[in-house]
Amino acid sequence: MSLKRPKISIIGAGFVGSTCAHWAASKELGDIVLIDINGDAAKGKALDLFEASPVEGFDSHVVGTSDYTHTKDSDVVVITAGLPRKPGMSRDDLLATNAKIVGDCATQVAKYAPNAVLIVVSNPLDAMCHVAMKASGFPRERVIGMAGVLDGARFRSFIAMECDVSVEDVQAFVFGGHGDTMVPMPRYVSVGGIPLTQLLSKEKIEALVDRTRKGGAEIVELLKTGSAYYAPAASAIQMVEAIVRDKNRILPCAVHLKGEYGINGLFVGVLAKLGKTGLVSVPTLEMNAEEKAMFEKSAQAVTGLVEDLKRLGF
Ligand code: NAI
Ligand code: 2OP
Repeated sequence: MSLKRPKISIIGAGFVGSTCAHWAASKELGDIVLIDINGDAAKGKALDLFEASPVEGFDSHVVGTSDYTHTKDSDVVVITAGLPRKPGMSRDDLLATNAKIVGDCATQVAKYAPNAVLIVVSNPLDAMCHVAMKASGFPRERVIGMAGVLDGARFRSFIAMECDVSVEDVQAFVFGGHGDTMVPMPRYVSVGGIPLTQLLSKEKIEALVDRTRKGGAEIVELLKTGSAYYAPAASAIQMVEAIVRDKNRILPCAVHLKGEYGINGLFVGVLAKLGKTGLVSVPTLEMNAEEKAMFEKSAQAVTGLVEDLKRLGF
């Protein structure tokens, strides 16, 4: 008897989407469908990845196409379609173009994979989550944004470098929107169980927080022709893994808040428990006055984007 493998569809076969397919296949998370408006490019990348499977030893079917019928009954769909940020361009510049793309993709997903959990990656992230939720009509349990895992991973990387310790021993997360107002939470960082505040000076920590906030722009400045993709894709696939393996992992994600932290009807980055059904619950974290003020400022920035979306007719 063979068990059915989970089906993971990835919309957008660009840098982030194809790297998501790579991580998902190498972890043998399930069968993969890679969708792009450029169907031949998606087909070529999928075939190339599948041809790596005998060498790497993973059993995942990988299909590339522009035809959404292949996404039928997917368990998880990751939306990475859209334009990436270019040097000098803010995430918000992408708003109108990517809202149209993400809205179209989410509509197709709802048609062919009505029970899927949607993971949104396209930018501006928090706003695109709103577009995907509206277009799909999915409940909040099945529309979750990827940003906090990435921003947290950047924070963890910089802390590990500064403290000269294994990245595995650094626990850290980031709250708020995926933008300049994101809220890294140094008070909750642990380095092998030791609070970061006992290891580094306030100034050093502030410098790491600042680098984390600018982490996406740092890569854009270096790449010159696009934005980050290895760490973003690894982060999205960590969320997919939590879902298809029903792990109940606590990860920082953009979640449609329903009164948690005093916020209603807005996607903002918080800690979320992810399992087979998508968002399982939103554990609450105690914030001090300073953290709360930063979180609320970040939520206001997301509100501004959502208002812009409404003005643009989304
Ligand atoms: P990319 O340009 O390499 O790939 C985007 C792909 O989307 C292209 O292959 C394009 O043909 C495809 N596409 C465009 N319209 C489509 C449609 N209607 N249906 C299907 N496919 C369509 O860009 P990259 O680097 O992969 O980035 C993708 C998105 O992810 C960008 O919006 C970027 O800003 C965002 N991003 C978000 C992160 C986050 O933390 N949330 C991190 C990194 C990137
Ligand atoms: C990043 O943070 C561009 O949002 C993307 O790398």
